Amino acid sequence: MTRRYAAFEGVDGAGKTTVAARVAERLAGRGFDILTVREPGGTPTGEAIRRILLGLGGDVADWAEALLFAAARSQLASEVVGPALAAGRAVVSDRSVYSSLAYQGGARGLGIETVRMVNEAGLGGVWPETVVLLRLDPERGLAREDGADRISTAGLGLQVRVAEAYDRLAAAEAERFVVVDASASFDAVVAAAEAEVLRRW
Ligand code: TYD
Repeated sequence: MTRRYAAFEGVDGAGKTTVAARVAERLAGRGFDILTVREPGGTPTGEAIRRILLGLGGDVADWAEALLFAAARSQLASEVVGPALAAGRAVVSDRSVYSSLAYQGGARGLGIETVRMVNEAGLGGVWPETVVLLRLDPERGLAREDGADRISTAGLGLQVRVAEAYDRLAAAEAERFVVVDASASFDAVVAAAEAEVLRRW
């Protein structure tokens, strides 16, 4: 059975959320049975973890952050994404394990391979086979960001390292990644992303 699990990734403000929603809508219009999810979140446990992670209140140490993202994702995989894929549904996700590889592994400096191992342990093979990277200059992304959270307010330096990590991942896993220029018009970005996901599905 073809597994269909596409994740949308990018620096803060790259437009993933709106693009992923629109692409999901168009794929549903073509007859795919689509489940949309977002990370962190998507389950009651995951949404509670999201509030800890993104709230502007307390400090969260780097490894605590990585493990909490992995915990929320593990819950989402076992409760929602895994069962949907097993039932033959297609999943479109706003962020995924690749956010953890880029933000925690790359930008926070915990190591992409270490963070990958921790996540692999919690995911039981529930892993996106398609990653759409909306590529945007981090400075433009931050300028576009509206909803401030603990991570997007950490500054440009972090976003620059996130962008570099995404580029490294895209080069290392070229078959999995679709790189789309997110500075193009919304319609052009949606069309490019949809075409590439369709080609794989
Ligand atoms: P998100 O809700 O996608 O925010 P935005 O729409 O502004 O991109 O993600 C919230 C923040 O959490 C964002 O700064 C990226 C970060 N994040 C990580 O650092 N690691 C992760 O594993 C995930 C899923 C998100």
